[in-house]
Amino acid sequence: MAIASLHVFLLPSCSLIMIILMIFIGFKWISFRSKPRKTQPPSPPKLPIIGNLHQLGSNPHRSLHALSQKHGPIMFLHFGSLPTLVASSAEVAREIMKTHDLSFSSRPSLTIPNIVLYGGNDIAFSPYGEYWRQLKSIVVLHLLSNSRVKSFRQVREEEMAHMISILVESCGSLVNLSESIISLTNNVICRAALGRTYRGSKFTELLRKLMDLLGVISVGNYISWLSWVDRLIGVEGKAKKTAKEFDEFLKGVLEEHINKEKMVDGKSDESKDLVDILLEIQREKTTGFTLQRDNLKAVILDVFGGGVDTTSTTIEWAISELVKHPRVMKKLQQEVTEIAQGRSMIPEEDLEKMEYLKAVIKETLRLHVPVPLLVPRESTQDVKLMGYDIPAGTQVIINAWAIGRDSTSWEEAIEFRPERFLKNSIDYKGFHYEWLPFGAGRRGCPGIQFGVVIVELALANIVYKFDLALPNGAKNEDLDMSETYGIVLHRKSSLLVNLHAR
Ligand code: HEM
Repeated sequence: MAIASLHVFLLPSCSLIMIILMIFIGFKWISFRSKPRKTQPPSPPKLPIIGNLHQLGSNPHRSLHALSQKHGPIMFLHFGSLPTLVASSAEVAREIMKTHDLSFSSRPSLTIPNIVLYGGNDIAFSPYGEYWRQLKSIVVLHLLSNSRVKSFRQVREEEMAHMISILVESCGSLVNLSESIISLTNNVICRAALGRTYRGSKFTELLRKLMDLLGVISVGNYISWLSWVDRLIGVEGKAKKTAKEFDEFLKGVLEEHINKEKMVDGKSDESKDLVDILLEIQREKTTGFTLQRDNLKAVILDVFGGGVDTTSTTIEWAISELVKHPRVMKKLQQEVTEIAQGRSMIPEEDLEKMEYLKAVIKETLRLHVPVPLLVPRESTQDVKLMGYDIPAGTQVIINAWAIGRDSTSWEEAIEFRPERFLKNSIDYKGFHYEWLPFGAGRRGCPGIQFGVVIVELALANIVYKFDLALPNGAKNEDLDMSETYGIVLHRKSSLLVNLHAR
């Protein structure tokens, strides 16, 4: 009896379920037919869970370039579950950084920058918005603007002279030029931003660790339940240790400035460094939001992270290419010698006249893009990009390294030929998308002028003062040009040379 009544009850409810199901499927089908189908850019095949992470290898700029040769200049990859758009041509870069720049102006939240840059509260990794806008303009106004960059001329020339005097003493013996170059850029940026140098400190070593960490692709970032892998391989521990060491250093820098302020009443505006200005802005609460000590430290760190390594790696690669190409070295030495007219050092005002020097630096920045994948961006809304649907929350990688070597834009693209820049007016300010060493658009680098003048001054003076030879009679063309990947692309081995005074 009980079974019979259950049966009676089940039969109509079964047919009801069937009817609901059919209506549901009908609706789904109609909505599927009526909605335009979302089209995604071509994707290389991916693996479950990890997506395309396994295809990045130890040199992601090269691996992504190889993938783009097969799948095209606009690709859709998955880093774990995170959709990632990869641009590998000038045309795609222009669409992202010009046509749709606003939609692509944010940054993804990434594990390592969050650890080492105070929750990503710096300029380079903070999301698009008022916080980022205000901090960027503070740094531009007080450190990176035209007039501020000019005001640091004496600092640059003094540090240059200091470096040359050390190198002169080392003539005839083997010199680690990489070390000399990094201390030069570090000293200039320290004096401009912090008001004094921190010579002999472990600062440069720490900075290199920081930059290498920023280039690490952390698994936990993209697959949260696999974040134990980052702990297991030590990435997370290393990041925390580096962050702590930097924090100690930055605490000291802030304390020193606060104490000095108490002692010297009323510093003139001219003599204030970036840290003085940041402390003043924090005290006077002019930003409209509260700035904590950690926010200030993040900004100071950004100036070093953004400035020291990029600038020094550019000088290093330029000298490496000059050593490898004696013809170019000779032509550059001729130019600087003619313009210097026998003076003991090349001053900054002479740099303007050095066309070939500028061409050598441009060619270096094309072949050895210091930040090969720029800093990742993130879309904040759905975008129709070159006919493809890119959803909000997509990570965007621009392979500036591949774009700079694209043979559709550059003749003999992988050859080091500075002459190409004597004949054209292409520059690196972010308007020529076939060459993006400083990025472009709202998130483009604000430190171009600050960085380039150090590169020009260093290169002009080094080749003016010295002839360079490889150790143990090695031939110029044998110079090892291997690179090691981090957020900044470095020479794998230090640049060791014998110097001879000219
Ligand atoms: C040769 C030297 C330099 C190179 C090649 C370089 C390159 C870059 C690149 C590629 C970006 C990312 C752009 C993007 O995502 O579109 C960037 C951002 C940035 N750079 Fe530079 N940079 C250099 C020098 C400097 C200097 C000297 C400073 C400061 C002292 C600096 C501060 C920054 C900052 C704060 C950002 C973040 C901008 C933002 O996200 O809004 N850079 N730089």
